[in-house]
Amino acid sequence: MGVATITKSHVLVVPFPAQGHINPVLAFAKRLASEGIKVTFIITTNMSKSAKISDCGSITIDYISDGSEEQVKEPETIEAYHKRIKAVFSANLADFIQSSLGSPAKLVIYDSLMPWVLDVAQERGLLGAPFFTLSGAVNSISYHLKQGSLKFPYEDSAVSLPALPTLQINDLPHLSHPFMRSSLTALKLYVGQFLNLERADWIFINTFDMLEKEVVEWMASRWPIKTVGPTFLLQQKDDKFSNHTINLFEAKHDSYKEWLDSREIGSVVYVSFGSIASPGKEEMEEMALGLIKSNCYFLWVVRSSEMDMLPENFNPEKGLIVEWCNQVEVLAHRALACFMSHCGWNSILEAVSYGVPLITMPQWTDQTTNAKFVEDVWGVGVGIRVGQNGIIGREEIAMCIEQVVGGERSIELKRNACNFKKLANEAVEYGGTSANNIQDFVSKLMS
Ligand code: UDX
Repeated sequence: MGVATITKSHVLVVPFPAQGHINPVLAFAKRLASEGIKVTFIITTNMSKSAKISDCGSITIDYISDGSEEQVKEPETIEAYHKRIKAVFSANLADFIQSSLGSPAKLVIYDSLMPWVLDVAQERGLLGAPFFTLSGAVNSISYHLKQGSLKFPYEDSAVSLPALPTLQINDLPHLSHPFMRSSLTALKLYVGQFLNLERADWIFINTFDMLEKEVVEWMASRWPIKTVGPTFLLQQKDDKFSNHTINLFEAKHDSYKEWLDSREIGSVVYVSFGSIASPGKEEMEEMALGLIKSNCYFLWVVRSSEMDMLPENFNPEKGLIVEWCNQVEVLAHRALACFMSHCGWNSILEAVSYGVPLITMPQWTDQTTNAKFVEDVWGVGVGIRVGQNGIIGREEIAMCIEQVVGGERSIELKRNACNFKKLANEAVEYGGTSANNIQDFVSKLMS
């Protein structure tokens, strides 16, 4: 990891405005900056109002309006909303590029969910590189949806796609969740990533070769795609836990660190559903009772918007509830036994990179596919089964915790997770696959 002294190239980085998309791209951007590249990281002005931005090193943070702060008189559909936001952001990004000609950018790196950024960049003579923030498996499924080799709504009960295991309907990305309001919105986002991919100058993906070997090879045989993950591990050693420096949520205090310090090795169940997913009230109650039933210590992230879904007067003797935490630091803690997760891709990468087994409780989109890989392909976790009433029950939760913490499968799950921990670290260390891909990109960009 060399720190160059001369800035040779200027790169604009445009993340998709959600925590789970900002984190991996920001970590990558920081690594580029540490290699001597000038990086301007662009977030929306609307997001900047609520984001807590701490030390981003030598990266410059800049702001562009996407018009989402404007009051719209007529009620609009989600489609119309996205169209409007895209039009405003594109125009403002074009102006931004124009106005920074004093220090012209050479390349725009953008979240692949916003393929139109490539058009804005190339129209102004800049290079463009999409960054895929989801897994290789999910991205290749999106490509098959675009090609029509996989139909949506899904038609067959089991699907066979190149370089992927047989997937049941429930393992495929769950595009119809109410959060997306319309399954078409999610479908368009996923499929849209491939509409102009052949024009991209570089393509990055936040995964590592040894985790998704077959599907990454399959993708690389079609596009010049380069694995650069897990990007959160790319931090300098002394900056290891401070990668999430643009936070849309706040850890009110860090007393959970002391709480963890006082727990025994491998004794705590960590529970988090990331930054968007929100289980319903009934499910939250079952989770609360299941956690108590397991008799394990637990640290549970319940965002302030979900607090009132907890059972009344919930004050568990062995549990600690926090509104937000430094997840990477928590996962690295010796007290961790396992992670009960909604299976967002960042959470999966972070868990396997610290050798923490998982209990999966996917909610929607890519999470169902990620859960399938955790359980059946990598063997690093067990899945909570939904009961006949459509929700998960406390007994099932307690039973899954028992299996992973000291139960029959616990040793095997831990062994597999520790194997991926080793492979993830090897990928980003000097000479590793992700590190080499980054080095190669940096040399080409600077030449
Ligand atoms: C979103 C989508 O919902 C998910 O399906 C997709 O895979 C990525 O984008 P999100 O739901 O927020 O992400 O989940 P995840 O991918 O796990 O990202 C959450 C991020 O927030 C992680 O980097 C995690 O470390 C961080 N986090 C979470 C914290 O720092 N503190 C917390 O308390 C909880």
